[in-house]
Parts: sequence; structure tokens; C-alpha cells
Amino acid sequence: MRKLLIAGNWKMNKTVPEALELAGELKRRLDGISDRDILICPPFTALYAVGKELEGSNVKLGGQNMYFEEQGAFTGEISPVMLRDVGCSYVILGHSERRHIFGETDDLINKKVLSAVKHDLIPILCVGELLEEREAGRTKEVVKNQVLEGLKGLTPLDEFVIAYEPVWAIGTGKTATPEQAEEVHSFIRELLSDLFGREKAELTRILYGGSVKPENAGELLKMENVDGALVGGASLKADSFEKIVKFDAEG
Ligand code: PGA
Repeated sequence: MRKLLIAGNWKMNKTVPEALELAGELKRRLDGISDRDILICPPFTALYAVGKELEGSNVKLGGQNMYFEEQGAFTGEISPVMLRDVGCSYVILGHSERRHIFGETDDLINKKVLSAVKHDLIPILCVGELLEEREAGRTKEVVKNQVLEGLKGLTPLDEFVIAYEPVWAIGTGKTATPEQAEEVHSFIRELLSDLFGREKAELTRILYGGSVKPENAGELLKMENVDGALVGGASLKADSFEKIVKFDAEG
């Protein structure tokens, strides 16, 4: 069985005191939950402090991006070694904002994915189509390309997570229906099976992201091939993130 992963992507939000307050609150509220993995990805400036706050807790820490080199003259970049150093175990890579605002290519993202696994970070590779690509019937083609290019060079022994995030659903309040999500998730699982074998495909978590909220988390997370959520806006408040993590607490 795949263990659910509920991940919060804080994006460019929260000063260090604000981040500490939210992380402390989540640590208390989510204490003792062990049947699902919980991850928060604060901005770089808050990682060290939040990492200290989370020591000994079941809430894990991740980066929102990184460069693939270990160190050197790369002004403004952060390396996998640095993420490990502050307590990260995951890193989000290829988020649509990185692809579309900062021009990241599949080739660059692939280098980052390979570097992350080399440094014992679990990459969360984000893929997803634009609205015009969906409307043109190109969703699977786009997603397939991003998955194949992003995972190039990995072996079945490498741990990674995929996040399917339709770009038209990110930060827009429009969510994919559970059926739309399931269709793409099962397509991705078949791709993983072709690439790495059935066993690996069955073990690999595929998260859904794009306007996940307490109101829609349950119906999405109950789909067979939806193994968790990558949550943006609703991860910025303890109340809403807690509800998403505990989506089935009320039965
Ligand atoms: P959203 O963001 O939940 O605010 O739509 C999701 C994401 O970009 O990871």
C-alpha cells in the first residue's frame, strides 16, 4: 500500500517568525499521525529555523526548489547539500511557477531530479498541462513528455514522488474533478510501469495539486490513484491544512 503524502507548498510566503508560528501550530495539531506522511515546504529563509522547530516531530521538511550543483559560483542558488544540512528530506522540483515564470526546462529539471536523489532528497516532480493544452486535447502528451524527460536516468531503486498539477487549477480556485485527476494519475502510473516496472509503479506516490481545500480534499484523495496532495494556498493556515491532512477523520 502507498502511504498518503500531504505536502504544503508555502511558496513565497511567511517571514521567519510567521513560519515558526505556523510550523509550531502544525506540529502540535498533527502530532501522533503516522498513517500518512506530512510535509511542509517553507521558503528558503525559514528552513533552518523551521527545521529546528520540527526536530523530533512527524512533520517533515522540504525545499521548494534547488540547483543541481553542490556548491560554487551560482549566485542566488541553493544546493542539495544545503537543503540536507537544514533538515530537508524532500524537494519540490519543476513546479509550474518555476517552469512558466522562471523558464525552467525539462532538461534543467531532470538535472535537479538526478542531483536530489544522489543527495538523499526525495524529489517531488511536478507536471501538468496549461489550459490551452487541455482544451486542445494534449493533456496526456504534455504530461507524458514532462514525466519521461523529468525522470530520465533514474532507476527503480530511486525514490521519487510525482505531483500532477494542472496549471489551470493552481491558485485559481478551479479544481480538477476527481475523475479528471484519476484519469491522468492512472495514465502516469502506466507510464511509470513502462519505465520502471509494475512493482515500482505501484509503490510510487502520485499527488494531486491545484486548489486543494478542506472541502474537496476528501473526494480527490479517495480516488484509487491519488496518493496525496500538494497544497498551496490552503497550506498557509493551520486550520485548513490540518483539515486536509485529517480529511477522513470524520469517516
Ligand atoms: P494552490 O497551489 O493549492 O494554491 O492551487 C498548489 C501548488 O501550486 O502547488
